[in-house]
Amino acid sequence: MAPETTANLPRHIGIIMDGNGRWARKRLLPRYGGHSMGAKTFQKIAEYCSSIGIEYVTAYAFSTENWKRPPKEVATIMRLMKQYLSFLGDLSVFDEEMRTTMLELEKESSTCTGMHLNIAVNYGGRDEILRAVKQISQKVSQGELTQEEITEEVFSRHLYTAGQPDPDL
Ligand code: FPP
Repeated sequence: MAPETTANLPRHIGIIMDGNGRWARKRLLPRYGGHSMGAKTFQKIAEYCSSIGIEYVTAYAFSTENWKRPPKEVATIMRLMKQYLSFLGDLSVFDEEMRTTMLELEKESSTCTGMHLNIAVNYGGRDEILRAVKQISQKVSQGELTQEEITEEVFSRHLYTAGQPDPDL
């Protein structure tokens, strides 16, 4: 895809990974073939977004529910994710090696100035809200914040995407 000049670009695009399994089944391939192609396609989309000046891309790559998938499929997805950057979600459930890789990738890319790429892993929308509510209520009980001071902006600051604009698309 060739870079274009586009006015009124969204600042933040969220992408939900879906249909990898169906894509593979149609071609009589194993599910991991679909995930591998999904990851490659995601890379193309991310590079294109970067080339046209999108500031943030978030991929919802692995939800809290996805742990219920067969262990081999989970392992394939983990291997594919090791190749990518910046992670949102509760990382404490991943094994030591995976966590180290994620943190190293984040560190290495922290000086990059281009598009910010988030990959949401072990991520659930309700889980993120619960985490924010717990953090905010702790601040209220410790007297750092009053109930009246809890605004949408304060709430946003307790989400994984704190400091980033909300996804537009
Ligand atoms: C959804 O398709 C896909 C997933 C649950 C995993 C996606 C994650 C990766 C491919 C790892 C790499 C991630 C990035 C961002 C590079 P599905 O299996 O639910 O498809 P189906 O609905 O057709 O069964």
